[in-house]
Amino acid sequence: MPSYVRAGTLPPKRHIQFRRPDGGLYAEELFSTKGFESAYSLLYHLRPPTATLEVRTWQRPDARFEANQPPRNRHWLTRRSEARGDAVDARVPILGNEEITISIVDAVRPMDYFYRNAGGDELLFVHEGSGVLESAFGELSYRAHDYLLIPCATTYRLQPSAPTRLVVHESRGHITLPKKFRNEFGQLAEHAPYYERDFRAPALPAPVDARGSYEVRIANPGRDAVYTVENHPFDVVGWDGYCYPYAFNADDYAPVTGKLHQPPPSHATFEAPGAAFCVFVPRLFDYHPLAVPVPYNHSSVDCDEVLYYVSGNFMSRRGVEEGSITLHAAGAPHGPQPGAVEASLGKTSTDEIAIMVDTFRPLMLAEPALALEDPAYFRSWLEPAPSVAGR
Ligand SMILES: [Fe+2]
Repeated sequence: MPSYVRAGTLPPKRHIQFRRPDGGLYAEELFSTKGFESAYSLLYHLRPPTATLEVRTWQRPDARFEANQPPRNRHWLTRRSEARGDAVDARVPILGNEEITISIVDAVRPMDYFYRNAGGDELLFVHEGSGVLESAFGELSYRAHDYLLIPCATTYRLQPSAPTRLVVHESRGHITLPKKFRNEFGQLAEHAPYYERDFRAPALPAPVDARGSYEVRIANPGRDAVYTVENHPFDVVGWDGYCYPYAFNADDYAPVTGKLHQPPPSHATFEAPGAAFCVFVPRLFDYHPLAVPVPYNHSSVDCDEVLYYVSGNFMSRRGVEEGSITLHAAGAPHGPQPGAVEASLGKTSTDEIAIMVDTFRPLMLAEPALALEDPAYFRSWLEPAPSVAGR
């Protein structure tokens, strides 16, 4: 959470009587993380958020995973997925472990139910499309290249106004801005690649004053549930605090460039337990007269590296296209494919956009994604290269 935000109507102090125009009390809700110890917000509802009519098990389709065994570098052409639906029910898991699940989704219709991930924070990246993320905190308009960070247990609906392609990261913990970008007061430091002004909080509309029967699907690994609640979840008149959904657009990221190649941590965006996130955006290349613009060969001995290719010319990669996902497995060297180094010499800039997540535990392969895989990828560093699926 970048900073303190307040919205709507609030009482002068927390935890005191706060009355509706009809004389009744608003229902205060403390929305807190790590027990009572970390970031939190206070929300004021027209009616109690606790009024529950029914609880049942959510029979969510189980994503089955298998080990990347023997470990090898992999590539999925995710544009070949034909799954379409809303932003939750059409998710196609690609990779996952105990700490994170990475999916793609083509959301073409609004959600006609509410959704809450009670297992951890979600980080959505908007490849393309536009619409509104509706939540109890208000309405957050989104557009291409937005990251949408949704705190654990936020009740939300994603309502596309144009077909929306998302990369979804479901963490089992909290996703935060890296500590190295913050000063001792929590403010984003002068050397950070973004500033508080770059982050967008939801705008709080008038509360939905309605009672009825509202379905809330609650994701929590092994404990998925459907709650039917009596009061509309978006009946909030005011809230304040540090815990709320927010947007950051990758086009606003100010990348660090250098005399020599800058490694991925220079392009960090977020971090989570067992995962680090980066973004690669259009930038100038290194300015040493003998600089090699594309990355060197790399053995990542401690983590699996996942790249999602958004747009531009992916100079160091052969066979990838927009929407491709590559996995470079811990211990399996990767780097520019034959000819890429020579082709890059003398280039001064790149227009590529890609997002990355590194995980420190091995990623498993989701079964639904196996049909999207280019099985020849791990041999794409050979010269002459074998034919690559889709090319
Ligand atoms: Fe790497």
